[in-house]
Amino acid sequence: MAEKFYITTPIYYPSGNPHIGHCYSTLACDAIARMKRMQGYDVMFSTGTDEHGQKIEKKAIELGTTPKAYVDDIVANFKKLWGTLGIQYDRFVRTTDDYHIKTVQNMFEKLYNDGYIYKSEYKGKYCTPCESFWTESQLVDGKCPDCGREVTEASEEAYFFKLSEFAPRLKELLLDEEKNFLEPKSRVNEMINNFIEPGLQDLCVSRTSVKWGIPVTIDEGHYIYVWMDALTNYISLLGFMNDTYDDYEKYWPADMHVMAKEIVRFHSLIWPAFLMALGEPLPKKVYGHGWITFGDGGKMSKSKGNVVDPFVLCERYGVDALRYHLLREMVFGSDCPYSNEQMFARINSDLANDLGNLVSRTVAMAIKYFDGTLPVDKEFNDSDNDLLEQLDALPEFVSGTFETMRFSEGLAKIFSVIARANKYIDENEPWKLAKDESAKPRLAAVLYNLLDAIRRVAILMEPVMPHTSPKIFEQIGADEAVTTWDSASVRHGLAADVTVTKGEVLFPRIDIEKEIEELNKMFPAEEEKGKDLEPLKPLTKFDNFAALDLRAVKVISCEKVEKSDKLLKFKVDDGFGERQVLSGIAKYYKPEDLVGKTLGMIVNLEPRKMMGLESNGMILSVRYGDGYRVIEFDDSVEAGADIS
Ligand code: MSP
Repeated sequence: MAEKFYITTPIYYPSGNPHIGHCYSTLACDAIARMKRMQGYDVMFSTGTDEHGQKIEKKAIELGTTPKAYVDDIVANFKKLWGTLGIQYDRFVRTTDDYHIKTVQNMFEKLYNDGYIYKSEYKGKYCTPCESFWTESQLVDGKCPDCGREVTEASEEAYFFKLSEFAPRLKELLLDEEKNFLEPKSRVNEMINNFIEPGLQDLCVSRTSVKWGIPVTIDEGHYIYVWMDALTNYISLLGFMNDTYDDYEKYWPADMHVMAKEIVRFHSLIWPAFLMALGEPLPKKVYGHGWITFGDGGKMSKSKGNVVDPFVLCERYGVDALRYHLLREMVFGSDCPYSNEQMFARINSDLANDLGNLVSRTVAMAIKYFDGTLPVDKEFNDSDNDLLEQLDALPEFVSGTFETMRFSEGLAKIFSVIARANKYIDENEPWKLAKDESAKPRLAAVLYNLLDAIRRVAILMEPVMPHTSPKIFEQIGADEAVTTWDSASVRHGLAADVTVTKGEVLFPRIDIEKEIEELNKMFPAEEEKGKDLEPLKPLTKFDNFAALDLRAVKVISCEKVEKSDKLLKFKVDDGFGERQVLSGIAKYYKPEDLVGKTLGMIVNLEPRKMMGLESNGMILSVRYGDGYRVIEFDDSVEAGADIS
């Protein structure tokens, strides 16, 4: 039976849409999960959302909606982002899921019955208008951080978990050299010196003032508070104390909990203490990585040239480029500033130059010199050994670095072997060998070594660049049997008479200056946003606007207008019938990509002729960089629906 491997991301607060900061833990876990699957493990990779609490309750009230409706929308965006990034999670837990609620309630009861939870009083600074408790450190100038008003000392009944009782066992766990429970090691001292030595306080696990939470079954009006709810996700999603899932025996304990440094404390002190109290096994490892920081203050900001919307980055530069960049740039344990410029430089140097060129040059030479199929007759020699030996050493190194979150090191090593392969081309000068008929077997051996090197590095990169490696395999004629993780260790796995196929450019070079300019246009910096809008046209009467008939239309067909590089000819359904309309957006779209879309249109413009064709209306577009994008509605909007 395959060995199991259980890896988790934190469950994210859906208090706002996901941003690039959230991507790192999730990408790291995905890459490890993918590698482990390739290595034959039975993998459980979980992620999810942490949906209760005061912040969400308040936001929903502000927006005049319910907390559940509010989080539903944001959770959908998290899932959409994970889909875009190619995250292959096995389970997505929401703390509002019934099975999770059941587990948390059962666990609370058990800990209460076993004497680890007791009732007492929660004391803090209370802001009456906001109905919120704050700790001393949360106050801003001694006042409520939300509304700036005075706070008063107050208390409420609450349940507490006897965290203090576990201090000696937690210290022992953290200092156990064999277990290496918490990585990086520097955080061990932080936990011991800052939290255990000064004396662990018992933990408040229920509140009465925060009602958007899981009800305490044994005491009406109490709701389970934050960390007891959140941390429990790691076992509720396996079916611990609930009947929905039945994988606890199989997957627990987790092999790796991954998170950023600010929540290491909860995972390395509170979580093991809960499990100790329950008498359950402890997770094997907690990994606390650094933060992706933005701008000077470390906060996300749309300062010039630094737009960081992950959807935009994926769309413009490719998912794998973003995956590679984040995992390559971040050194485990340290913070890492994000910059688009750095990402473009990486794409150009590593992906377009080193990797892209190696693949395209090698494939092109195999086509040029052998019509794409290498001859079986080959002459290998000792000068091949250095490249082969470097390749032999790679799988173990990569596996060791990836599974300990040292992606940067692992990827750097892979790319040093790619550089070695590029050097091998220069050393062997295939173009010279090609001129000499008697050197053909040597030429075949050189190209074969290169293709096989590409195969072996592409396998090892696949967990990080899952969309690129299959494209490479196709170009170099590698069939499935020689693209498994194990086969990365095998020398000369490709068929002796391998056939290559020319493919698309894997990573187009980016003109960095131009691209930054483009992004600046698309996403103006904050300081420019505050300026008054410079009108493009003089003021007009409301009636002029009201005179326009604006409707949603559905695109039935779309094609280029002959002899025009600007115009597209549409047939659209306006809800009443079909009409023809022209639009000058041919440069920005493939016609077939627009078919079926629901667009906005002015339908009562007088007909106009362009290139001899009649246009009945105008499709609405919005400026996007140097071009335009159509304004789209989702499919549920009906043709003919009026826009106002
Ligand atoms: N809900 C809690 C976690 C409960 S886990 C049982 C929470 N949520 S969060 O939405 O604030 O997510 C925090 C996590 O998001 C970090 O630990 C990290 O994994 C990820 N990141 C969010 N912003 C980040 C950066 N700027 N950089 C790197 N990771 C960051 O805390």
